[in-house]
Amino acid sequence: MLPKNKIEEDIAIQVNGISKAYRIGLEEVKHDTLGSALVSFFKKPLRNLKRLKGLSKFNGFESSDIYWANKDITFNVKKGEVLGIIGKNGAGKSTLLKILSKITDPTEGQILIKGKVASLLEVGTGFNPELTGRENVYLNGTILGMTKKEIDSKFNEIVEFSGIPKFIDTPVKRYSSGMKVRLAFAVAAFLEPDILIIDEVLAVGDAEFQKKCLGKMKEISGNNGRTVLFVSHDLAAVGALCDRVVLLNKGSISDVGLPPDMIKKYLSSNNYVNEADYSDYKGSGDWLLTGINLLANDKRDENVIWQTGNSVIINLKYITKVFGKSPYVILLIKDSFGNTPFFCFSKVAFNGEISLKDIGEINIEIPKLPLLPGSYSIDVTFKYGRDTSYAKESIIDFEVHKGDFFGTGRLDDGLVNSVLVEQKWSFND
Ligand SMILES: Nc1ncnc2c1ncn2[C@@H]1O[C@H](COP(=O)(O)OP(=O)(O)OP(=O)(O)O)[C@@H](O)[C@H]1O
Ligand SMILES: [Mg+2]
Repeated sequence: MLPKNKIEEDIAIQVNGISKAYRIGLEEVKHDTLGSALVSFFKKPLRNLKRLKGLSKFNGFESSDIYWANKDITFNVKKGEVLGIIGKNGAGKSTLLKILSKITDPTEGQILIKGKVASLLEVGTGFNPELTGRENVYLNGTILGMTKKEIDSKFNEIVEFSGIPKFIDTPVKRYSSGMKVRLAFAVAAFLEPDILIIDEVLAVGDAEFQKKCLGKMKEISGNNGRTVLFVSHDLAAVGALCDRVVLLNKGSISDVGLPPDMIKKYLSSNNYVNEADYSDYKGSGDWLLTGINLLANDKRDENVIWQTGNSVIINLKYITKVFGKSPYVILLIKDSFGNTPFFCFSKVAFNGEISLKDIGEINIEIPKLPLLPGSYSIDVTFKYGRDTSYAKESIIDFEVHKGDFFGTGRLDDGLVNSVLVEQKWSFND
């Protein structure tokens, strides 16, 4: 057995029972870097003393004013491993990464880290806004313990990767958020930290740059055996990049495992309107349906009923691992006899190229639902060229309730097995 504060040879990060309490209503000041956190503490000693006193009044954080952003988190990250962290908004992902980057302290527990850490967090890029891009590259390198010579040898690569050579001698405060992230990623990736911690920030860059970053991260972990911690809502990227995934839920770890298993578990924990089963599909799985919502009357309200003649929306959620190409989307609406009263087919009904992101939603609005009251279901297919990516029959069942399609108030219950179409009647003498 190793003593508690010793870390095993092949482990890069050891997290032992981390918890983090925040006081509700007392927003902790956010800092971009450890440096600025320290500076701020020394700048505002009185205010911070008051904060500390205020906190200590709460005996052992039992007060209901306390919110646990992280609760009893324990895991290890191996050297060279790419660990993904996923979870809903507010699950505590960023809090955990801030603790690991030593920007904030845990309330309980301890972390042991072996090696130099570079982080890109949502709170900022770790740049001093008054300094130029060039000066910030050198500043960050120095913080990582590199010599000027070592930084010199990486400088050109960094500038080239960031794609902003023109602005390298401009103060960072004049950069757009995308430019900052570009340079920050390049700095973090090329200055060879042992551990790279990345929170979401890549979402700021454009699609091309995101792709470039994902490639670079793969290279960093693969060839150079460096450890990467990666928080993202981009499940396709998590699936492609990570060796292992931690699933966070309300501040605690709900599971740790292989990316496909964790992604599936995460998606199935989201509440969709109707019980729909997205598994056991046919196809290659390049595109996956992850959610279906039936909405109505322009309200994105989940507890709606579908009525004959009303405006309704079918909302689909998807993820893909095929970057930059879009599939055809086909929905067959089926009645309880197995007939298909109508279909929705992007190729014929949508005039233009559909351009889908890696993860997103599709809304199909049907201005006047032509179905009579009864039970129906929907088959969904994503076709990609001639190949089927995803096909599942009867993914969701739904009921259509009585409504006034023609505006005559005369539609009665006896009609079945037909669709309604708008029609104009006229009579000649
Ligand atoms: N500085 C803070 N002061 C007070 N509460 C905070 C602070 N930072 C985070 N919290 C709270 O802690 C919880 C976890 O937040 P965190 O930012 O870690 O979530 P997250 O998983 O990163 O979410 P997201 O997906 O939206 O980025 C949230 O309820 C948040 O309001
Ligand atoms: Mg976050």
